[in-house]
Amino acid sequence: MRTLPPCTIILFGATGDLARKKLFPALHKLHGELHEKTRIIAVGRRDYDDAGFRSEFVTACDLDKKGVSSFCKRILYHRLDFDEKEGYVALQRKLNNLDPEIRDRRIVYLATAPEAFTFIAEQLTKNGIAVKNPKHGWHRIVIEKPFGHDLTSARNLNKRLSKRFHERQMYRIDHYLGKEFVQNIMALRFTNPLFNRLWSHEHIDNVQIVANETATVGTRGGYYDTSGALRDMLQSHLLQMLAITTMEEPRSLSPDEIRGKKLAILKAISRDAKTKKSIVLGQYRAGVINGIMVPDYTAEPGVAKRSRTETFAAMRLTIKNKRWSGVPFYLRTGKALMHHYAEVVVTFKPQECKLFCDIARRPQENILAVRIQPDQGVELRFNLKDPENEHVTLPLSMEYSRAAEFGENSKEAYERLLGDVMVGDQTLFTRWDEVEESWKIVDALRVSNTKIHLYDAGTHGPDAARKLLTDEKREWFGNRSIQCLHCTK
Ligand code: BG6
Repeated sequence: MRTLPPCTIILFGATGDLARKKLFPALHKLHGELHEKTRIIAVGRRDYDDAGFRSEFVTACDLDKKGVSSFCKRILYHRLDFDEKEGYVALQRKLNNLDPEIRDRRIVYLATAPEAFTFIAEQLTKNGIAVKNPKHGWHRIVIEKPFGHDLTSARNLNKRLSKRFHERQMYRIDHYLGKEFVQNIMALRFTNPLFNRLWSHEHIDNVQIVANETATVGTRGGYYDTSGALRDMLQSHLLQMLAITTMEEPRSLSPDEIRGKKLAILKAISRDAKTKKSIVLGQYRAGVINGIMVPDYTAEPGVAKRSRTETFAAMRLTIKNKRWSGVPFYLRTGKALMHHYAEVVVTFKPQECKLFCDIARRPQENILAVRIQPDQGVELRFNLKDPENEHVTLPLSMEYSRAAEFGENSKEAYERLLGDVMVGDQTLFTRWDEVEESWKIVDALRVSNTKIHLYDAGTHGPDAARKLLTDEKREWFGNRSIQCLHCTK
């Protein structure tokens, strides 16, 4: 267990959805590891006092029951309208009255609507709440996604923030990097010669990277309708998973070494006319998910009635470098789908069949699947002899399941990431140049007249996405095991 230093966490957007669903549950799980003096200042618009916020808001979050009352004692509430300057003066006063051990070690977490980021940042520095060069201790600022809406707005946001903070103070969140099995991709590749030696176009046929959700846009229609799957998921989570899966081996695990290697991949990702033609976008319409009827996307609250925003995207990307020449990377993400799971599936090239080459049942490709969620683990498929028939093989799997081995799945992404901010480790946060390059890719791939395929909620998405692969004589794998996603058997 790491020793987390005493500090103050100032959480803007403390009464919002993210705070309720992810941040307070993560902080509560970290409670035992937090320094006894660490305090959380919850900043929000709603009218609470400390006791009211603790009893009405925090305890209503999705927390394990254990230790809630002692966790609540760490939390103070500060009411503030983000655009009213006086509230910041009062906040600074409150901070100055804290125990000296936590007063000057400050983490400001921006979990508000992105439009508020620059105004809040300005007020933070003007009022000395978080500044570029604090006289004592350290000030760090955590910025939730989306970091911009496109390349231009991301550049503007970054320009404004970097006037006020050093890059080393900025922690841009991509919570997929906090997921244990996204991090495990690196360990798996670089510590196992079995995979490391084969990790290139010479031996890999294709890679699939998937983050599918059963959830609809729910209450987030207002935000989502201006965003869509490419901005919401590709720009951040999917491109980061792709970069980690394909980057060159870093010389060390230092944050900048790793981020430099990821950047090189992002720069090499195709965005040419051919790539643009290999994108399938979709939007869900009414359907049944896990027995529950959901409406058309365009009937969701906050969504424009004639919206053309994509809730599904599948594509074929390539990486223009020596290692990955000619290898297709199939990415896929969507909302309101049949199954909720994220995984990376690597299919190795078959070898010429010399033995056990039964015409009806040839040996199958070796496949490595890294399960990111909801299960966490690794599965490897290989061929063994069919016990009933000496000349024929069967494809079988070896599986490692994190839960089966250790009893429960690993730390939640936010729990891990919040701890990293406290110890000042930026490895799992995106550096500006990565964000900038990802926006360049998304801006280039977002072609306004791309067809939007409608798909029924609760299915695998548009048929065109299946065709993307079948046209190349491949199949999507899915639903948490190495099997063809669209096969009915
Ligand atoms: C967020 C997106 O970054 O990731 C959401 O904004 C999406 O739209 C979420 O639902 C998915 O995260 P997870 O951890 O549930 O896969």
